[in-house]
Amino acid sequence: MQIDPVIREWLRLAGQAPSSHNTQPWRFRVDRAGVEVWTDPTRSLPVNDPTGRERIISCGCAVLNLRVAAAADGQGLNVRPEQAGDGPFVRLLTGHHGGAGQQDLEPLRERIGERRSWRGRFLTGEISPDIVETLVHAARQEGAWLRPITGDERREEVANLIRAATAAQWKNPAWRRELAQWMRPASRDDGLPVGRVTGGLARWSVRHLVPARAMARGEARAAQAAPLLLALGTGIEGPMQWLTAGQALQRVLLEAARHGLCARYLNQPVQQADWRPQLAETLGGGQPQLLFALGLPDGTSHPTPRRPLDDLLKH
Ligand SMILES: Cc1cc2nc3c(=O)[nH]c(=O)nc-3n(C[C@H](O)[C@H](O)[C@H](O)COP(=O)(O)O)c2cc1C
Repeated sequence: MQIDPVIREWLRLAGQAPSSHNTQPWRFRVDRAGVEVWTDPTRSLPVNDPTGRERIISCGCAVLNLRVAAAADGQGLNVRPEQAGDGPFVRLLTGHHGGAGQQDLEPLRERIGERRSWRGRFLTGEISPDIVETLVHAARQEGAWLRPITGDERREEVANLIRAATAAQWKNPAWRRELAQWMRPASRDDGLPVGRVTGGLARWSVRHLVPARAMARGEARAAQAAPLLLALGTGIEGPMQWLTAGQALQRVLLEAARHGLCARYLNQPVQQADWRPQLAETLGGGQPQLLFALGLPDGTSHPTPRRPLDDLLKH
């Protein structure tokens, strides 16, 4: 089937979403009724994400981008998450009135291409309470919660969990191997970009050299120093809630991008089952899905590669 150029553009924008290790684990199916977003199990991360939770969250991010793209074209989509044998997928049916919520999504369109993750330092300075309130509201509109982690004591508790969970991750050779596998030359269209000449050394370092304790210390320090430290979560746990979390995450990130803010992910205590219950308790309950810092990057962030659209189509 020939795909309408307007829908092709929506799909291109959907593909700009963030994803764990930049795996881009989504597939799109287009028919006369609209678009379907499926997860791609061949792009899973069995060590980092054994249940596929982050894979489904990443697809949720792509769904939000699609909704924003359609809203900016004045089109409403009827969004229907469904369960198939190999996991959830989302049907987005065209030809509907978007309703009041559509106007809120429309201005986010121009932020899709500007949003970036950031792994460096942030500029110091407080983020205004008005901005924080906007972000909390954005997550709530998607059915998720977003909680700022404030106060020295609570930050310290969360930083300690990040330290312990990061050390455990880096002590696991299989986790290191999987990360190194997704470090790829920037000329590739997926993965975490590394230099063409220095990439081999960077991969080898991740596999064999980087000390777990130093990584753990650095990540904990990043949590303590972050201008804003946030947890995003859902009421209960399950694949449908992961889709919700992904849409909420992307909505928060696009709102944040309106103010020049980038995310640095500190997900380790959510990724590691041993620490997640304690994190949930420290945060006051619910199911934490993502832990991240937001701030103004102290440097230039560069776009990461994306796969060509034709590779993302499911027939
Ligand atoms: C569900 C999810 C989990 C992620 N976890 C991490 C993480 O633990 N550490 C990290 O540095 N980046 C993490 N990222 C960011 C991805 O690595 C990033 O989105 C990807 O490399 C593409 O880059 P971009 O966000 O700049 O477009 C995560 C992203 C998503 C959507």
